[in-house]
Amino acid sequence: MHVAVLNGVNLNVLEKRDPKLYGGISLNDLETQIYAWAKELGCTARCRHTNSEGEYIDWCHDALDWAGGVIVNPGAWTHYSYAIRDALELLEVPIVEVHLSNIEEREEWRRNSVIAELTAKRILGRGPDGYREALRFLVNGN
Ligand code: DQA
Repeated sequence: MHVAVLNGVNLNVLEKRDPKLYGGISLNDLETQIYAWAKELGCTARCRHTNSEGEYIDWCHDALDWAGGVIVNPGAWTHYSYAIRDALELLEVPIVEVHLSNIEEREEWRRNSVIAELTAKRILGRGPDGYREALRFLVNGN
């Protein structure tokens, strides 16, 4: 199983953001962990990050050709990008939505996810471990 891991806007400066919400980890360290977890679980992960919405959409389209599952954390785009939603809707493989913080316990505007209804699973507020859970779900179904 090949898994696309698509991190979106502002996630490249994770270590500079509120550590109480985001754990103080850098994107580089997070991706290193994701690759190690994927190896443990017997799948391969391809991690991508961009701050450009169009490029994020391109990665969604690219995943159509090869991914057996997709993990997405679109950052703030989660809450309003119908363009990303439409791109994700093309995927016929399971999508797992991951957020480091629990968006349902934060500001009102963060509670809405325009992609939620497309996902096979949502993992909120589990920090970096959320990505491990997402990989496990895609590989083992639990
Ligand atoms: C986030 C939550 C979003 O609301 C926020 O805009 C982010 C990160 C998370 O992982 O908790 O950038 O997606």
